[in-house]
Amino acid sequence: MRKQQEELFNLINKAEEKHNLLKDEIVELLNFSDEQLFFVADKIRKIYKGNKVHLRALIEFTNICKNNCFYCGLRCDNKKLERYRLNFEEILKCTKRAVNAGYKTIVLQGGEDVFFDADKICRLIKEIKTFDVALTLSIGERTYDEYKAFKKAGADRYLMRIETTDRKLYKSLHPNMSFENRLQCLYNLKELGYETGTGCLAGLPNQTTDSLAEDIIFFKNLNADMVGIGPFIPHPETPLKNAEKDNFDISLKVMAITRLLLPDINIPATTAMESIRENGRIIALQSGANVVMPNMTDVKYRKQYELYPNKICINDSPDKCINCIKSKILSIGREISESKGYRND
Ligand code: SAM
Ligand code: SF4
Ligand code: FES
Repeated sequence: MRKQQEELFNLINKAEEKHNLLKDEIVELLNFSDEQLFFVADKIRKIYKGNKVHLRALIEFTNICKNNCFYCGLRCDNKKLERYRLNFEEILKCTKRAVNAGYKTIVLQGGEDVFFDADKICRLIKEIKTFDVALTLSIGERTYDEYKAFKKAGADRYLMRIETTDRKLYKSLHPNMSFENRLQCLYNLKELGYETGTGCLAGLPNQTTDSLAEDIIFFKNLNADMVGIGPFIPHPETPLKNAEKDNFDISLKVMAITRLLLPDINIPATTAMESIRENGRIIALQSGANVVMPNMTDVKYRKQYELYPNKICINDSPDKCINCIKSKILSIGREISESKGYRND
């Protein structure tokens, strides 16, 4: 036992110094590491990213999706979900509210909704960019030319998780989608100069620590600018409804190791983390994360953006969320950033 403890300390020290680990070493940490991993990830976060937490205003602008991902409550086969799509005015109203509340980044996220063709998205980007904000899109897989047009219209960043790098697992969870295409999309985004965010779900059925280690190596090889790790939370209206529910610890470990290997990137404390663990975002902020994405969606739509059950804040107003998260951040001795929060800020 003592020997193993010593080996783990050595691995964490190696990661801290070299920001590199072999796959087997990552697997070892995923399987056996403890509080020391989180402590060191927090230390590295402090050295590279400082004490400031970046807030990104999340606008969930459509819950309509043509895809059928096995884990997601928005999957097109979930006929019980009441669908919505915000109109331009509503999206701009949310944007104004976020800007007035001091946010410097707007994140437009939605299902893969074909109504929002490239022209409409470009129009939206141009409108949103009239405010002095950074704009992140999270609208799934599009063609190279569409990504190019969005960039030209002013989009700065793009978030698209690879979800899992295990091809077989990916295929089993994403009917009619292609792993190769998702990869290509991420390479295209990088090539086009987006700050590119990716990430994975942790705790999926049949996912191994070996494949999670591959995910972390993928983030490093891609040189991702942001990485978001979500604990997978089973949704009752999906094929994975009976899967394991508590994936907090494994997702926190994936996140902390990602911080050690990519010390200068932006890492959010994800909403899903807090949805399964009280103060989950604060725990994440103290284990390597430096970003929070409070929900700016109108209360009347929040319940319908139900990726998973028991999502936090579904009955809260945007104002309540901003005050709530700010006070939590300040209570742990961190500050709220006033910059746009690019990777190299
Ligand atoms: N449609 C876009 C996409 O898939 O990239 C963006 C929106 S999608 C709802 C955002 C993220 O939600 C996905 O990348 C996925 O990791 C996460 N998600 C979906 N279902 C989830 C679940 N049951 N538990 C945790 N996270 C989930
Ligand atoms: Fe659609 Fe994204 Fe959900 Fe998949 S994860 S069903 S693409 S919203
Ligand atoms: Fe929404 Fe706390 S962040 S109520």
